[in-house]
Amino acid sequence: MLQKLQSKWKVSGGRLLLILITFALGGSLCGYAGRRLLLLSGMEKGFLWVILYVILITFLWPLCVLVISIPLGQFSFFKKYIRRLFLRITGQKTGAVKTQIAIFASGGGSNAGKIIEHFKDHSSVNIALVVCNKPGAGVIGIAEKNQIPVLVIEKEQFFRGNHYIDELVRYGINWIVLAGFLWKVPGQLIAAYPNRIINIHPALLPKYGGKGMYGHFVHEAVRAANETETGITIHYVDEQYDHGKMILQKKCAVDPDNDPIAIAKKVLALEHEYFAKTIEQVVNGE
Ligand code: GAR
Repeated sequence: MLQKLQSKWKVSGGRLLLILITFALGGSLCGYAGRRLLLLSGMEKGFLWVILYVILITFLWPLCVLVISIPLGQFSFFKKYIRRLFLRITGQKTGAVKTQIAIFASGGGSNAGKIIEHFKDHSSVNIALVVCNKPGAGVIGIAEKNQIPVLVIEKEQFFRGNHYIDELVRYGINWIVLAGFLWKVPGQLIAAYPNRIINIHPALLPKYGGKGMYGHFVHEAVRAANETETGITIHYVDEQYDHGKMILQKKCAVDPDNDPIAIAKKVLALEHEYFAKTIEQVVNGE
């Protein structure tokens, strides 16, 4: 049961505990507040009292749970939970409030695949679109297998036309995730999505970043410099290559006998472990 909840809400064990404590304390506070309010009215306990009590706690419950969620650090979860509950009760589509993400990728798309898997049937996030600049790239097959629309883009329109902003708006995109996307993002697109474009880089920035530093070139440079550690950097995108505000870095050791292929393998494992989780935290404002 607890495991089911954990995978439904996509939260860690510790976080699930805090959520359950919030439910318990919020519910108790709501019951207590409802009784105190009715006591103040001087009403005798009876059938009408029970009806009024039920009505009162129905309205008090969201408020009490939200209040309790603040000191327990669970406000963003409960804000979304209550919103969805409200939409369900009033018969509106909960999908309407999901955050819509577009993944931009140029290659095989193993990161895109992991992100798609992570957000499958997610309660508040939807991978709405895969954008690719290379017809035939592996990521296109991954998107199609998961019934996610694909937009294949071309240079002229991306850099000098409308930068595909109209298309992204049409898909309702709120966030852009670069998962191995090798074109520089034009300033107009960054301006259309301020602090809403996230990139992953396969090194510990600011080292081994910048123009031409991607994929195997990064790992070859790390090997050539005899680094003893490398890792990943997840960061917001600004107008310079691999430069925006850092969100997360994770390290791994580079052993003396690790060639660039072995380094790439270690780094990719870190990317697969942390990228989707970090995206979830960032878009949920955590
Ligand atoms: C990933 O290692 C990503 O960090 C890198 O491209 C690879 C894509 O792999 N991105 C860059 O180098 C950007 N400067 P994938 O297609 O298997 O996800």
